Amino acid sequence: MASLPFELKGKTVYVAGHRGMVGSALVRRLAGENVKLLTATRDDADLRDQAAVNRWFAAKRPQVVFLAAAKVGGIVANNTLRAEFLYDNLAIATNVIHAAHVHGAEKLMFLGSSCIYPKLAPQPLREDSMLTGPLEPTNEPYAIAKIAGIKMVEAYRSQYGADFINVMPTNLYGRGDNYHPEYSHVVAALIRRFHEAKMSGASEVVVWGTGTPRREFLYVDDLADACIHLMKTYSGDGLVNIGTGEDITIAEFARVVAATVGYTGEIGFDTSRPDGTPRKLLDVSRLAKLGWRASTSLEEGIGLAYQAFLSETK
Ligand SMILES: NC(=O)c1ccc[n+]([C@@H]2O[C@H](COP(=O)([O-])OP(=O)(O)OC[C@H]3O[C@@H](n4cnc5c(N)ncnc54)[C@H](OP(=O)(O)O)[C@@H]3O)[C@@H](O)[C@H]2O)c1
Repeated sequence: MASLPFELKGKTVYVAGHRGMVGSALVRRLAGENVKLLTATRDDADLRDQAAVNRWFAAKRPQVVFLAAAKVGGIVANNTLRAEFLYDNLAIATNVIHAAHVHGAEKLMFLGSSCIYPKLAPQPLREDSMLTGPLEPTNEPYAIAKIAGIKMVEAYRSQYGADFINVMPTNLYGRGDNYHPEYSHVVAALIRRFHEAKMSGASEVVVWGTGTPRREFLYVDDLADACIHLMKTYSGDGLVNIGTGEDITIAEFARVVAATVGYTGEIGFDTSRPDGTPRKLLDVSRLAKLGWRASTSLEEGIGLAYQAFLSETK
């Protein structure tokens, strides 16, 4: 394994999923690191296709890999496209991690997600709570695929000495988010719905669920900064959570989004819709010990995300 700090400068760095919210933030952040950036579209290599992935790695031989490609979505997408979430994410993880090993990548970072932790694990969620209890059923296929990817990273470290690491981001938001009316995450969904209500003069916006679940939100450019920091400074078996360490109820969060968007009507709650996990807050003490903290406040981040929404949906 390479010694620390791990040097990125001058290396060929592959960001898998570069058109996604996380991948594009990584590309923005890497612009200041003097790397030779490699990207691939689905036409270049569908990451579910083992032969295509092998061909691409054999031709390009990236030295560093950020695995930020995945089939991702909110609660509805996760719960209805269960086969796709399992198949795509398993295939992407196995193909890319194995190809990185076979073709001699010096370092790889696998991005998991906070939903790999058990539904009722003690909060804040510590890295060692993975596999200590049942998962949230609505996103179990996605979580199982992500856990398989994490275990591959651990196994390739222990069997082959590969310098591969796992990071677990909390809920993200910001530039490049998906604003699909049904399949988006909560932040993008709320930005879109409050904006549309403001534009149409609607008197009420109804938010799914009771509004009582507590969630943590991290601005995606902060995530990218944390990933670069950990790529350079961390090498170990353990997962590293990436979050702000602070949570907020969905109801309070909805009020922040409404205020940012300039929506002044009522906010209602549709309690017939599922709430998901009651609380999801990451324990970020390991990350703090490794020398990184989030720097964008929720108000500032939502303001930036709303500006991005306005320009991306023009
Ligand atoms: N968003 C969050 O709140 C969040 C939270 C925690 C962890 N994460 C993790 O962060 C990573 C990235 O998430 P994201 O929010 O950036 O997702 P995203 O915006 O949906 O981007 C996913 C990227 O993966 C690519 N991709 C998906 N399937 C592919 C395939 N078969 N072949 C090639 N490329 C494929 C997509 O390509 P196209 O552009 O062609 O669609 C897209 O560029 C994921 O591992 C996710 O688990 C995200």
